[in-house]
Amino acid sequence: MATLSARSLASQLGDWRPRGTEPLYEALADRIRLLVLDGRITLGTRLPAERLLAEHEALSRTTVASAYARLRELGYAQSVRGSGTVARLPRGFADGVPSIGESAGPGMLDLSKATLPAIPIVAEAAREAAELLPAHLHESGFDPVGLRVLRQALADRYTARGLPTEADDIMISLGAQHAIALIARTVLARGDRALVEAPSYPHAVEALQLAGARIVTVPVTTDEGWDDEVLEQVMPRTAPALAYLMPDFHNPTGRTMPPEQRARLHALAAAHGTVLLIDETMSELGFDRDEQSPATSGRPCSSSSCCCAFSTATTGCWMPGANSCAPGTRSCSPSCSSASPPGRCRTSTAV
Ligand SMILES: Cc1ncc(COP(=O)(O)O)c(C=O)c1O
Repeated sequence: MATLSARSLASQLGDWRPRGTEPLYEALADRIRLLVLDGRITLGTRLPAERLLAEHEALSRTTVASAYARLRELGYAQSVRGSGTVARLPRGFADGVPSIGESAGPGMLDLSKATLPAIPIVAEAAREAAELLPAHLHESGFDPVGLRVLRQALADRYTARGLPTEADDIMISLGAQHAIALIARTVLARGDRALVEAPSYPHAVEALQLAGARIVTVPVTTDEGWDDEVLEQVMPRTAPALAYLMPDFHNPTGRTMPPEQRARLHALAAAHGTVLLIDETMSELGFDRDEQSPATSGRPCSSSSCCCAFSTATTGCWMPGANSCAPGTRSCSPSCSSASPPGRCRTSTAV
């Protein structure tokens, strides 16, 4: 279960104190409720202990206890034996909301899936790909790492972005989620810490938890981006085995990490033996950028997929760093693929 530290929650609370006569505990409960509703506090996350939040926000413990009680009363929190207070949504919250696949109905925006119809270039790319297909039909169709010509093309893209990459460094997967799950299973042992942004892409966090990770978080906000102080404290304190991050067009805040912060992050990861799992699914979304930001230096594992950015009709994903190690940075080499049964992945990790 993910735990929110008092510091992380405080940085997400922002300026929450009431200006009028509203009681402090109501205002605090209201702000936390908003964070649960907009997804910045993921459902099932353990809220900080009352005493720690009270100390951090210079409040009495009674105020925090009353705020948590109010959240429980409204259905936005639940006491779980042995786990403290956990974020949730009220029962029946989604009643009347169309489920996935149902039409949102006239006058309603369907926010249950963040996808748009494919842009015209996707149809053109599909036609071109279909023309190339017959040349490969004499092969078995099972390729654990993907077509060499495709891996070479992707390696060239990374090289052009400043990260010298060979075709052998690339493995094609069935989508970014597949790559994230493979890397998580390869790098993480049960009980290892994994650093994620709060908020983050929930299915990636799920994959890390399924691989046995204990989640620690660094807040990202639309106004401030990544909280440097938290990063500098959390990395040495928890020495995460893996950090799953989206430095380009972070989902959902849309923030892009400045170059100096990337450099600090990389230095921290190298110092603490943390594998950087960089999700570049959204990295080509910029309207006004001529070029992509340089690929993260060193040898991170990164996963990319064009399907969410361009159309869900296209599924392709690649993992640079799939076969390499760099001094100072643990890097993963998942010699497994969609064709390998789960328990049969060979893994190698180097420090
Ligand atoms: C940030 C992020 N990572 C990964 C994925 C999953 O991508 P795929 O569908 O290629 O598995 C998505 C899809 O929305 C995403 O937004």
